Amino acid sequence: MIALTGVSRTYPGGVAALREVSLRIGHGELVAIAGPSGSGKSTMLNVIGTLDRPTTGSVHIDGHDVSALTDNQLSALRATTIGFVFQSFHLAPRVPALDNVADGLVYTGMSRSERRRRAAEALERVGLGHRMDHEPHELSGGERQRVAIARAVAGDPPLLLADEPTGALDSVSGAGVMELLRELNAAGTTIVIITHDREIADRLPRQVRMRDGEIVSDSAQEPVRLWKGGA
Ligand SMILES: Nc1ncnc2c1ncn2[C@@H]1O[C@H](COP(=O)(O)OP(=O)(O)O)[C@@H](O)[C@H]1O
Ligand SMILES: [Mg+2]
Repeated sequence: MIALTGVSRTYPGGVAALREVSLRIGHGELVAIAGPSGSGKSTMLNVIGTLDRPTTGSVHIDGHDVSALTDNQLSALRATTIGFVFQSFHLAPRVPALDNVADGLVYTGMSRSERRRRAAEALERVGLGHRMDHEPHELSGGERQRVAIARAVAGDPPLLLADEPTGALDSVSGAGVMELLRELNAAGTTIVIITHDREIADRLPRQVRMRDGEIVSDSAQEPVRLWKGGA
């Protein structure tokens, strides 16, 4: 699903946010990207999400070599393949949940009625069928993040990228959001979640840890520990 090979990203001014990062994530995985603030997590997610291009190295998403695509082709790839969830929800204010979700499907070319039908389905899926007419300010933080997740998955993208999705939530709402992401993964979506919450990272099947723009550990790369005890 994702292949980064020797990816570096240097920002104007000289900050090397990513240094020669290589990472492969397969279809159906649920992966935590962990690491301290400033370690390059968001930069890596933006590169994976094709929102940002690497300075050097190659990025393949769902079989596409990102460097070979034009900006229009990249927009199309994002619209069909990738859903995004952010810490601060990024919902349109004063817009009912149903429209917030439906508007995320504009770039898919679906008709308005199809977009609204899909949006209603996605809101049911995240447990907000009873809140479709509510505007963001009429929803709790956890409910707002569920609306954002509904918007991200309404088009059924195979890949979901979440940057600190529980960062603005209390622990109970955060746990609910994590449970929802697990359900989506169990139903087949590949999910990459950035978190600096160690407990959240440790509960996911795979942890990639970053520091100073580099991957310093990847639980998928660790040798299997063989049981060498008696009996
Ligand atoms: N747009 C930018 N311009 C310049 N430097 C940036 C920009 N975005 C991030 N950085 C720098 O790149 C490094 C990595 O940032 P980031 O990927 O946001 O880390 P994280 O998400 O792990 O906190 C930091 O040193 C940050 O200050
Ligand atoms: Mg970040």
